[in-house]
Amino acid sequence: MHEEGTLGVSLVIVRPARNILGAIRLPGDKSVSHRYAILGAIAEGTTRLSNFSTGADCASTLACLRQLGCLVRSGQDHNVEIEGRERLEQPPESLDCGNSGSTMRMLSGILAGHDFLSRLHGDESLSRRPMGRVMVPLRQMGARMTAAAGDCPPLEIQGGHLRAIDYSMPVASAQVKSAVLFAGLLAEGETAVEEPYRTRDHSEQALRAFGVELSRSRNRVTLEGGQKMRAIQGAVPGDISSAAFFLCAAALFPDSNLVIEDLLLNPTRALLLDVLKMMGARISVINLDEHHGELVGTVKIERAALTGATIAGGQSVALIDELPVLAAIAPYTRDGIEIRDADELRVKESDRIALVARNLEAMGAQCEEREDGLRVPGNQKLHGAEIESAGDHRIAMAFAVAALRAEGESVIRGAESASVSFPGFFEMLEGVVER
Ligand code: S3P
Repeated sequence: MHEEGTLGVSLVIVRPARNILGAIRLPGDKSVSHRYAILGAIAEGTTRLSNFSTGADCASTLACLRQLGCLVRSGQDHNVEIEGRERLEQPPESLDCGNSGSTMRMLSGILAGHDFLSRLHGDESLSRRPMGRVMVPLRQMGARMTAAAGDCPPLEIQGGHLRAIDYSMPVASAQVKSAVLFAGLLAEGETAVEEPYRTRDHSEQALRAFGVELSRSRNRVTLEGGQKMRAIQGAVPGDISSAAFFLCAAALFPDSNLVIEDLLLNPTRALLLDVLKMMGARISVINLDEHHGELVGTVKIERAALTGATIAGGQSVALIDELPVLAAIAPYTRDGIEIRDADELRVKESDRIALVARNLEAMGAQCEEREDGLRVPGNQKLHGAEIESAGDHRIAMAFAVAALRAEGESVIRGAESASVSFPGFFEMLEGVVER
């Protein structure tokens, strides 16, 4: 891989690989890092975290917390300390959430319970993303919220005294669930959230770790407002959505042997391991442990000739961040991959369905784009191409993986976007590639 670029836009050249070999450990999970930081900000005491996410998204969360009056220390070594405070302070300026939907949506839940006016904005991509999904329940709880055009950022929130609600979410979104639960913690009474499909449960695990009692029955979570939280200490497990790129890369070559240590293996996030196994990859998990309710372990992946898969319904929800890379490797499987019920992909950092289809086609693959997903036939030969990431980190990384088995070089445009979740991705990938 070779990087060049001007004006902050970088190109990375990816050459074909023969194999993936090595042992790696990944920076802390993005979803878990956001939650520990946000809850740490309103917990009693100092939350001390190691292996905090190195991505720009979590840095946006920390920057917003600082603007809200929190003392946050973050060192070079990915250790972060957050001094909790009972109430946050009105931010002097608009809160910059950067590219991070998680920051904007989850912080909205906290800000809804604070008696001041705040404004949140984001970059061009975040400014196109739907916020009505958090505004509806938070308004029902008593917050005053307005968005700019339609339901898109910037947002204005006048928080205050909140009432508990019993909310049935129309979209399966862990960010929305978290916003409602966080607001519920600051509300009077018992808040319940019900999700149409099970989404990642890091907020539930984190709330418990911070000392909150909550109950879950099927897809419904309930908590009583006004509970006090206590700071936590610990390491953030390696990011499993970042691991997905390495696992999928390894699964493309018959002699791969890759070990990923200290990886987050929360069952609501680890479906990719089952899907790859089901398609024929040899995957084993050792050293399973639990930290603050999160499963952590070492994953080894070896030798694979992938068959194919259909991913639909709740599986598409559980794999939402891994679908781009699964689609990108689909042409190299025997039977192809079909993805259904994944309309949410259209409102991520980019329209990921359209962009995956466009980039697969650029590499010479056949692929059928559908409103709610894609059908990518298997057994195809791809050639290197110019990949357009459109500033979307997961697209840049997914196609770096696809490029490893193509014929000839590929150029990833906008490769710098990988740093939204994973600075150093291309270097780490290069470190395990054999040619
Ligand atoms: C996230 C939830 C998902 C996911 C995002 C992180 C989270 O978004 O795509 O990358 O940490 O809760 P939605 O809540 O919009 O499904």
